Amino acid sequence: MEKIRVGLVGYGRAGQAVANILGGDQRFDLRWIARRTPVEGRLTHPGTEVPVLSLEQFPFATLFDETPVDALVDFSSPQSLRAYGEEVRKRGIMLLSAISAYTEDDLAYARELGQDTRVMCSPNITLGINFLIVAAKLLRRAAPFADVQIVEQHFRDKPEISGTARKIAETLEVDADQITSLRFGGIVGHHEVIFGFPHQTVRLIHDSIRREAFGTGAAFALSHLANCDKGFYTFEELLMRLMRAELQLATDDPASGANLPQPPTGRETP
Ligand SMILES: NC(=O)c1ccc[n+]([C@@H]2O[C@H](COP(=O)([O-])OP(=O)(O)OC[C@H]3O[C@@H](n4cnc5c(N)ncnc54)[C@H](OP(=O)(O)O)[C@@H]3O)[C@@H](O)[C@H]2O)c1
Repeated sequence: MEKIRVGLVGYGRAGQAVANILGGDQRFDLRWIARRTPVEGRLTHPGTEVPVLSLEQFPFATLFDETPVDALVDFSSPQSLRAYGEEVRKRGIMLLSAISAYTEDDLAYARELGQDTRVMCSPNITLGINFLIVAAKLLRRAAPFADVQIVEQHFRDKPEISGTARKIAETLEVDADQITSLRFGGIVGHHEVIFGFPHQTVRLIHDSIRREAFGTGAAFALSHLANCDKGFYTFEELLMRLMRAELQLATDDPASGANLPQPPTGRETP
């Protein structure tokens, strides 16, 4: 299988961790990393030959022309979108943006780019949290009568309620009052959705350990986005596509048991 050629914009705390993952994954050829500030001499990402370049010296059009890529991954800032948008559109480069703070206008522009190429915007890009959200949504649908509580824990100085916890509340259609925030020590990120049934309790828990988890999410998204038609996607939609494909496989495979006659329910007429 051919490697997906990737360019990464943003080389801060998140971008460096993402480069660690994409740079070491055989499915990808991380060709360059772009940052805003000038770079002295020849800088490469540690442990690789991947060059770290300044957008002042190498604007996007130059980067795309001189070292073509199939995908652009954005861990920089909301301002970058307009700087590369038309270049990405012209060349049909798939775009994976992890920017968390887009305005409605930015998002409308990103959606519009999706008419000409594959675009995914994911304000939360860890595979674990997105899986938790999909699983919680399913359980909520199966048991709308269960009480739902959301607990989030973060490092002592994080001032605001976690955006991820708000997103979970919104998705499950529960009031934001159901979120409990705890601040202590150096916790990177803990999210827990608790379903209180009358006779059982279900807890879905996600703990972030290292920023490399953003890279694992980006790798998952890129490999699946590569098989999609042009359009605008969310992480959740990619996961749902995967689940649908798995269900279809199970239905097609008689050995899976999915096609076996259902056991009697006791309600059949004799
Ligand atoms: N979706 C997710 O799950 C997720 C997770 C983590 C982070 N993020 C997002 O990723 C972004 C970066 O986060 P961070 O914590 O890594 O921030 P950071 O440490 O401040 O790093 C920002 C990086 O972006 C570059 N940059 C800033 N403005 C730019 C511009 N206009 N054009 C090109 N490059 C620019 C900076 O360049 P210099 O190095 O030259 O200063 C730096 O490399 C934020 O938008 C954040 O919301 C998303």
